[in-house]
Amino acid sequence: MFKSVVVSSRGKADAVVVGVFKGDSGPSPLDAQTKAHANADAIERARKLSECTGAVGSIAEAHTDGRSSVRVVLVGLGEKKELTLESFRSAMTAACKRLATVKAESAELAFTGTLDAAKLDAEEAGRAAGEIAALMAYDADRFKGAAAKKTIDKPKLALRADDKAFERGLKRGVAIGAGVNVGRECADTPPNIATPKWMAAQARALARKHDTVSVRVIEGAALEKERLEGHINVGKASENKPCLIRIAYTPKGASRGAKPIVIIGKTITYDTGGLSIKPTPSMAGMKHDKGGGCAALGAMHIIASVVKPKRPVIALLAAAENSISDEAYRPDDVLTFRNGKTVEITNTDAEGRLVLADALCWACDKEKPECIIDMATLTGGVVVALGSTYAGLWCDNDKLRDRVDSAAEATGERVWRLPLHREYTDMMKSSVADLVNSNPNRKAHPIQGAAFLQEFVSRDIPWAHIDIAGVWDVESPTGPFPKGATGYGSRLVARVVEDW
Ligand code: BES
Ligand code: MN
Ligand code: ZN
Repeated sequence: MFKSVVVSSRGKADAVVVGVFKGDSGPSPLDAQTKAHANADAIERARKLSECTGAVGSIAEAHTDGRSSVRVVLVGLGEKKELTLESFRSAMTAACKRLATVKAESAELAFTGTLDAAKLDAEEAGRAAGEIAALMAYDADRFKGAAAKKTIDKPKLALRADDKAFERGLKRGVAIGAGVNVGRECADTPPNIATPKWMAAQARALARKHDTVSVRVIEGAALEKERLEGHINVGKASENKPCLIRIAYTPKGASRGAKPIVIIGKTITYDTGGLSIKPTPSMAGMKHDKGGGCAALGAMHIIASVVKPKRPVIALLAAAENSISDEAYRPDDVLTFRNGKTVEITNTDAEGRLVLADALCWACDKEKPECIIDMATLTGGVVVALGSTYAGLWCDNDKLRDRVDSAAEATGERVWRLPLHREYTDMMKSSVADLVNSNPNRKAHPIQGAAFLQEFVSRDIPWAHIDIAGVWDVESPTGPFPKGATGYGSRLVARVVEDW
């Protein structure tokens, strides 16, 4: 929608965005501050239009008089008592769409009065606004041909605010959104380009930007040496060889003894299902099976450029292509993992948990983590259960779960807790090895995945598993997103780190 979004108050704004509530009492639903705005006359005129209903995201417009006329965009915020960050994001999405349609190049967001009246924190709202605007500066046309690209004309938008705290949040939000977009761009990149090696190059690009970030890529003989059996086997049928990408954020002057927060991402650059091949309709879109790793990469961008925490953060991207050849791993194979556990392969399409199992072992053995959060497009079953509204969350550590829940509350990336139980673990028992990678019954597949992963985490390390298969992309334009990747999870884990 936008070519770029920045925060700048240079020159005069060609548009002003103000909020209006639904069905407020009194002759005017506008608060005192909005009424006192320099463009009060036009605001009053827009308010009288029939389309000014106050419903969330409704838009009414008027122009100020005079030669350098300013466009006033009145956006509905819903009932005053019900304004939340979530509804504010929806309103902001509608307002930004309007600004994009009219090709506005600069806009003032003047929400001070309305936010005060609804008691919504100005800085958090500013951050939400900045994130939404930046998410709409995502380039979804990268793979269009040159002729088609020439016809695309998107405005560069400069935003400002009528309030210091809101503007502080706005700046932060725009930078956060830019980090999310890095992950989206990676995820949307087609699998003939975005190979495991290519993913490693994207991580290295981040390290070049920040001297607090370093990248190590474990590949080839090093994967063997580290006994990352699951990872090697899932990746071995493809000529695009697998690698484990370790991104470390190490702050200068870190608090002594601070343990790292470890973020793990499933980074399957393409999932054909392997020999347990997917039928054509289920295979399409499997370029997004690297969504967990892309979310982790986006989070590291946000952490290095915006959050800059005092404690170390490590991301492990388990990158492989689940392909088919005479070298492919097969159903009936038995693999021995780093922690000594053996796994009978029952289905080569349950590959995500195999690469994650290795990354989880690695994190527990080598990183001495404060906690581990993994994100994975792990199961179709979580999409059946929760749709695209919530990601599935497994976390039996109350403190870590509280942190994830409150981060999700702040960023609007919704999580819903699902259970772990011994009976699910029992479902993963094999007659020939310790575990199967998938029980052939049709029961509780997302939980089977979590129960399998749990076998590779040391009990004393707080761990959260987030199955993002339903939330990582949208099939048609939704909110601020065009069809494609949403970047779910980058803001969420960056926020966990920020609030730690
Ligand atoms: N990458 C898929 C899960 C997936 C499905 C992600 C739909 C996004 C949309 C995963 O590797 C997979 O194939 N899972 C299987 C597991 C089964 C074989 C145990 C599934 O969910 O069907
Ligand atoms: Mn699969
Ligand atoms: Zn997969």
